[in-house]
Amino acid sequence: MKVEAHKETLGFQAEVRQLLDLMIHSLYSNKEIFLRELISNASDAADRLRFEALTDGNLYEGDSVLKIRVAYDKKARTITVSDNGVGMTRAEVVDNIGTIAKSGTRQFLASLTGDQAKDARLIGQFGVGFYSSFIVADKVALATRRAGLGAEHGLRWESDGQGEYTLETVEKPRRGTDVILHLRKDEDEFLDAYRLRTIIRKYSDHITLPIVMKLEDKNEEETVNRASALWARPRSEIKQEEYDEFYKHVAHDFEAPLAHIHIHVEGKQEYTSLLYIPKRAPFDLWDRNKHHGIKLYVRRVFIMDEAEQLMPAYLRFVRGVIDSNDLPLNISREMLQHSKDIDAIRAGSVKKVLDLLEDIAAKETEKYATFWKEFGRVLKEGAVEDFANGERIAKLLRFSSTYTDNETQNVSLMDYIGRMKEGQGKIYYVTADSFAAARNSPHLEIFRKKGIEVLLLYDRIDEWVVMHLTEFDGKALQSVAKGELDLGKLEDKQEKQQQEKAAAEFKELVKKIKAILGERLKEVRITHRLTNSPACLVADQHDMSANLERLLKASGQELPASKPILEINPSHPIVVKLKDEADEQRFADWTHILFDQAVLSEGGQLGDPAGFVHRLNELLLVLASK
Ligand SMILES: Nc1ncnc2c1ncn2[C@@H]1O[C@H](COP(=O)(O)OP(=O)(O)OP(=O)(O)O)[C@@H](O)[C@H]1O
Ligand SMILES: [Mg+2]
Repeated sequence: MKVEAHKETLGFQAEVRQLLDLMIHSLYSNKEIFLRELISNASDAADRLRFEALTDGNLYEGDSVLKIRVAYDKKARTITVSDNGVGMTRAEVVDNIGTIAKSGTRQFLASLTGDQAKDARLIGQFGVGFYSSFIVADKVALATRRAGLGAEHGLRWESDGQGEYTLETVEKPRRGTDVILHLRKDEDEFLDAYRLRTIIRKYSDHITLPIVMKLEDKNEEETVNRASALWARPRSEIKQEEYDEFYKHVAHDFEAPLAHIHIHVEGKQEYTSLLYIPKRAPFDLWDRNKHHGIKLYVRRVFIMDEAEQLMPAYLRFVRGVIDSNDLPLNISREMLQHSKDIDAIRAGSVKKVLDLLEDIAAKETEKYATFWKEFGRVLKEGAVEDFANGERIAKLLRFSSTYTDNETQNVSLMDYIGRMKEGQGKIYYVTADSFAAARNSPHLEIFRKKGIEVLLLYDRIDEWVVMHLTEFDGKALQSVAKGELDLGKLEDKQEKQQQEKAAAEFKELVKKIKAILGERLKEVRITHRLTNSPACLVADQHDMSANLERLLKASGQELPASKPILEINPSHPIVVKLKDEADEQRFADWTHILFDQAVLSEGGQLGDPAGFVHRLNELLLVLASK
């Protein structure tokens, strides 16, 4: 069948052009990685073919020996990387090679700084992939044909990386993809068998497919890489660099990982897992539906990417492979959902990841701090979701607290307990929507005065964490903004007497305030919490905290209006003055201001802000005219 020659010119997405420029400049010092990227893509394409061929063997077209070929041509000054993997259809070429389909591209580009070293890291993290070809090539051609479609569906893509590419239909008898790099003027160093072999061994030794090169002056091919599954080898034989390079390939990351675990499990279930914790969070970490962490293999055969059944959502940052000896080769995603074997593998893997994290936390504080900064908020989801491992996860949590008094979350619950005051029975915390709001919360005043540590919780997820984590090591977690504050043994007799006296003295005032604010609150009472502020709001012990209420409302939930409790500070001059205020109008104004202040200082919004400003100005005028 004759194919109509049909060549068209298309434009790159604007972002691609920008990215290409940046990449060439910032990665030039590490340019040999182009080969790693092309081999990585070829290997992915082979994996995809194997997966699709599980349900349609015809896709192999009689050729199931998958390989990657690297060749060079000194005269033409080209390097070619070929695979007989799945190939691409026309639409796939346009979608994958002419555009950057990744989410967050724009955001990514906006985050670049112009500082070369920093940007190189960011670009690496974003994924350089196919475009890294242009670091060494001024023209790149790609010929591809999707497995299962006839030779006439071949396509040739070509570009000089300047903003446009051409696409034409060609005959391509062999399925898969060839990428041909026309090297830039000064890149002849790559036209050398020794150099290419060295690069392949350095970066791609772990690729499970054979990567072959033709021997010089002979017609034979030689396999350059080890071509065996890294995870199947004994741990003692694997070098750190090999672990790192393998990670970069499976995780599509540019940087080495933070840590890994490699285990062979025997017994009822036989499987191997090689799992990694990355150094940095990916752009889409917050998309809980994306679990592209774990690749599933069965007896060394790649089965699928993104096997979300293998890791719970709160460990979605874990990358790596799990290779089972027991599962059937034809296992499908649907089967995974109901497989007891998978449940057991998952439970075992979660346990190992928690072991690893505990180990880092115990021995490598700085490393754990890096981990926590990147993934702590995700791990906190585990405290909400994973009941079975709740206690272990609780031990791994880190918080800010009034002891360290800074935004770095590095206080564990054990640290906290170690510093508890004699007679202190509870773990105290405050929740707010920012570090500043938590740290400056009026509810902390008495705790600061008495030197009792309070955990400062200001991540969105924290409200849910404390709902599930109600006690740790036999000690209840208690919000400092909820219920009647009872410091128990931490209060001395004299203080108690003073409080009782104040309560009696201010009884009338409490009544009057309640009469004015009426429906806006549940109760008015004399505080035990405040030392400097005149008033604060607290929630009843079993009511929702004001912070949680705001979070839920912001997410669109309808809630019945809950009423706070107003606590007033009998030793504050404003409150003392209020007690003796005879002018009814002024008493009412003061009272409203007191309440509104309390709302503001815990991060709430006023129902009637203009009314507040008006009253405040009235009082300021009185002052000014004195
Ligand atoms: N040899 C190939 N065979 C089939 N498809 C390929 C091949 N090379 C690239 N592709 C397609 O082009 C896409 C883009 O490749 P690219 O290397 O830029 O990104 P990636 O591999 O998805 O991620 P990474 O940034 O980690 O490399 C791939 O996802 C794949 O769909
Ligand atoms: Mg790639």
